[in-house]
Amino acid sequence: MTDTQEIKNRLDLVDVVTDYGVQLRKSGRNYTGFCPFHPNTRTPSFYVFPETQTWRCFGACAEGGDVFSFVMKKNGWEFKEALVDLAKRAGVTLEDSRPKDAVHEAAEARQIALLDTAATYYQQLLIHAPQAEAARRYVAGRALSEETVDAFRLGFALDSYEATRSHFNAQGYSDDELLAVGLLSESEERGTRYDRFRNRLMIPIRDLDGRVVGFGARTLDPEGVPKYLNSPQSMLFDKGHLIFGLDMARRHIRDKREVVLVEGYLDVMTAWQHGFRNVVAQMGTSLTEAQLRLLQKQTKRFILALDSDAAGAKATLRSLQLARETLDRDLDVRFNARGLVQLEGRLNADIRIVTLPEGQDPDSLIRAEPDAWPRLLAEARPVVEYVIQVVTADLPRDDAKAKSAAADQVLPLIDDIADPVERDHYLNKLARALDIGDVNSLRLAATRQKKSQARRPTHSRPVEPRPTSPDSFPSDFVPPEPDAPPDEFGTPARSTINGGGGKIASRRLRHSTRLEDNFIRQCLEHPGAFSTVNYLLSRHKQREVTAIDFIRGEDKALLAIIAERATLPAVATIDELCDSLDSALAQRVRTLFAKPSTPGMKLDRLPDSLALSVLDWRLEKIREHNTILKQLLPSGSQTEFSDELTRSYIEQVQEMKHINRARDAMSAAGRRRSNGGPDGRKPR
Ligand code: UTP
Ligand code: MN
Repeated sequence: MTDTQEIKNRLDLVDVVTDYGVQLRKSGRNYTGFCPFHPNTRTPSFYVFPETQTWRCFGACAEGGDVFSFVMKKNGWEFKEALVDLAKRAGVTLEDSRPKDAVHEAAEARQIALLDTAATYYQQLLIHAPQAEAARRYVAGRALSEETVDAFRLGFALDSYEATRSHFNAQGYSDDELLAVGLLSESEERGTRYDRFRNRLMIPIRDLDGRVVGFGARTLDPEGVPKYLNSPQSMLFDKGHLIFGLDMARRHIRDKREVVLVEGYLDVMTAWQHGFRNVVAQMGTSLTEAQLRLLQKQTKRFILALDSDAAGAKATLRSLQLARETLDRDLDVRFNARGLVQLEGRLNADIRIVTLPEGQDPDSLIRAEPDAWPRLLAEARPVVEYVIQVVTADLPRDDAKAKSAAADQVLPLIDDIADPVERDHYLNKLARALDIGDVNSLRLAATRQKKSQARRPTHSRPVEPRPTSPDSFPSDFVPPEPDAPPDEFGTPARSTINGGGGKIASRRLRHSTRLEDNFIRQCLEHPGAFSTVNYLLSRHKQREVTAIDFIRGEDKALLAIIAERATLPAVATIDELCDSLDSALAQRVRTLFAKPSTPGMKLDRLPDSLALSVLDWRLEKIREHNTILKQLLPSGSQTEFSDELTRSYIEQVQEMKHINRARDAMSAAGRRRSNGGPDGRKPR
């Protein structure tokens, strides 16, 4: 059984929710109380379903999840924090953290010693081994000086499956120990163990105190995949809490009162070599709040120097959209504009962004012309200004709709700024950039947006509730048909109402859960599919897929990884991915891949079918939601039934219409595409 399943088995969601101060009352098979996620003391819109161990808010949030989602949302935690907390509560020892305490400390010290010795071992090979000739040429080709190679302790791993292993076995380290620090990998099927790093340039990654905690290993083969193979995630090597180069840069960051964040290891090294020593790199992942907090101890002034490659630009823009939907609640603060603006406020920091010229990264720029680097940094712009620039670039002067859409993207960011004068400054800037004469129209748009957000934190299209009498649902409401067509995987959608809400919930959930499982699996397997699915959804004016679409805490966390993989030019295999994940997430991935994959699905139809399945499960959730909602209505006496639930209900019905319309359009377009019809262009 997986750790998360074990935890779920041992805990009762009702207890957990109650312990967070939510007073629950029994109502049929279920429990109800005031929603802890949005302010309201009149409507008990929050439900816990003991049978499925899920919760849902039927009011303004219109969101639900499992026990992990609950504590994540309640505390603003990442999945991992929720996992550790709930494991403790349930008395489950996590795979990652066995064994513990004093024994554990001694083991950690030994691991640190091992990693340090390994760094030295690789260093010696790079300098002396005849087999390292190509590696030495590679280092020279990248113009890294001996001093730099030495300072960063660069090394070389032999092209062998057992060189490292036998070297350290001979020094008294067991295979288990080597595996634990990620020097060995283990094959799933055969259980054999072999050197993880082969024929790669070894870059030690050190923590703030300069201790080697892992490696980033670059392939020497221009076609090699992955380009960088990193140590697997572990207690010691936790990418979300590490910053490459910080141990060496620390002093310089203090002196210059400014830190420059770049994307790559090589960028840091080249900068260092040219005397730019306040430069550090994130670890190939999104920037986490933990990382920024680490930096913030040294300075409050950050410059983010972003690569301008296509993937980077796409990621920036995509995260602008993602930001609006995921940020307030979920996971860590992602590397995106809105997160940065909020962080800026919270950390009381000054964050600026600059993008590199097309086709260059700091490494190539500095090498070509060192003086260009300080000049470029001087062009860094505050986050909001940067976003205004990105969003309004190439905007047709006459396109009112496009302008309005651009404003919609920027306004939430401006709204996050605490200082009113600063806010006004940016509103004016935005007005100028959009060539709008009167800044008041932007103020109006901002207010409207805020209102609709307050109603619906999910940020789907604002729906204006029509006035209805409080004691009736709109008369044009037709109950949803339980006759959704069979999904792509051959199962007809399950039908409907009988028994109590709990039963319906569990049945329905089982179907949409399967769609969710399939979605996560397919997107992990085919990293390109994710962005295409989102493209298709937004083309049909539907929300992109975000964490709120998922019930399970693990899936919410995996979605962040999927989004990340979608922007990388090359990604790790599923095995390598599992290696790099916390054990609970790795277990989830392995479970998803345990079943054989669905046969007969043509790859080029995958995004279409996934996008449709997203709409199907959204519809299903709304149907389930509304079925229960209606049952909550004691017929006749609706005085208690507040405006909030009525409004929520109406919005859900509207939402369902929108989705159904999009669903029709989408399947028609999909058919045309597969028939090579007029709409047969492939989305890019
Ligand atoms: P880049 O692809 O921009 O690499 O990835 P780079 O640093 O410019 O490398 P060179 O110049 O081609 O050698 C930026 C960072 O993303 C992470 C690494 O931290 C890398 O430095 N990354 C990239 C990975 O972890 N794995 C990969 O496969 C690729
Ligand atoms: Mn590079």
